[in-house]
Amino acid sequence: MNNGLEKQKIREILERKLSKDLSYDSGYILGSMCTDAHEFGQEIYAKYVSKNLGDPGLFLGTAELEEEVVEEIGELFNGKKIGGSFTTGGSEANLIAMRIAKKLKPNIDRPEIVLPISAHRSFDKAADLLGIKLRKAKLNDDYSLDLEHFESLINKNTCGAVGIAGTTSLGLVDPIEDIGNMIRDRDLFFHVDAAFGGFVLPFLKESQLKIKNWDFSVKEVNSITADPHKMGMGVIPSGGIFIRESETIIQKAGFEIPYLAGGNFKHLHIVGTRPGGTVIAFWALMKYLGFSGFKKIIDDCMKNTRYIAQKIEDIDGIKLATEPVMNVVGITTENGESICELDEELRKFNWMLGKFLKFNLIRIVIMPHVRKEHLQKFSADLCTVVERLKLK
Ligand SMILES: Cc1ncc(COP(=O)(O)O)c(C=O)c1O
Repeated sequence: MNNGLEKQKIREILERKLSKDLSYDSGYILGSMCTDAHEFGQEIYAKYVSKNLGDPGLFLGTAELEEEVVEEIGELFNGKKIGGSFTTGGSEANLIAMRIAKKLKPNIDRPEIVLPISAHRSFDKAADLLGIKLRKAKLNDDYSLDLEHFESLINKNTCGAVGIAGTTSLGLVDPIEDIGNMIRDRDLFFHVDAAFGGFVLPFLKESQLKIKNWDFSVKEVNSITADPHKMGMGVIPSGGIFIRESETIIQKAGFEIPYLAGGNFKHLHIVGTRPGGTVIAFWALMKYLGFSGFKKIIDDCMKNTRYIAQKIEDIDGIKLATEPVMNVVGITTENGESICELDEELRKFNWMLGKFLKFNLIRIVIMPHVRKEHLQKFSADLCTVVERLKLK
């Protein structure tokens, strides 16, 4: 360790070292579900960066703002008096939900959870950490959930069921109402992972009537993951777990923390110290953008989604994996050839997409930082690569 450097010198070193990072603004980040945090959120965050929700008794104002913003998001998801809290992201939120499912069924020795094979890797991590067995349901040829298979996996050890509202690979929405009907009399904890879709679906509803109910309007749904740091343009890290009858759940499954300076506190989190600044920033962003502000962001992303989907359809040799439901576009080969070479070749042009070997597809997420001119350049390079690989 040195004895202290000039601030200006440190800034210069940082500029140099961080020049290796890609910027969202470059347009080359086409496969990430994160984006630049909204500038108003960044401003507010910078002001309140030291607030710690791990000790809410010391930060009563911040804790109140969290309650408010959680309730408001709960209402956006058609729930009343929804509780919950911000997390480090969707992975922690899903881990919390799976732990609740296990805790509510203390008499099951070998707990199992039924979920679609398209579920995010965070469920595998959570299962590993919690000693839960995952039962993964197949998808149909069109990537929709095979409901019959899902139901066949439920047994006496099942403590919970999971549906996805915005899959990581294709942005598809599972039939949440059908799963709800299926588990109605089975007393299972039902969690919906809307880490990505949570801040897309409420703003799509009017334009896309074919999207069925996926949120607290389905009365069997007990909890929802939704991440402000994805399509909410919140500051990283801002995930969220939203819970029906959260007080009862916290009483049954919460960790008691007796030694805090601010007083005794019971919570469901994996972390202790927890950022308050990100929560305040999202509270402010929701007030600032309002429903119409978020809707405009989603509308723009969907316009670009339709643009690139058409371009892909026009290129011989590749095709859309499915018609996009939200701003996630999957590309696969027409002749069933592996997608790997296409991904590698696109990387040589600097395009960073996501690759899903299980489904033989690469996918683009049309985040707010992706602009039409980026997509024009991408589709030209995509055309070149497809021709070079002779995929036709
Ligand atoms: C559907 C879904 N759930 C959970 C996660 C995990 O979120 P995070 O990376 O914030 O932990 C992701 C990430 O892409 C996701 O797409």
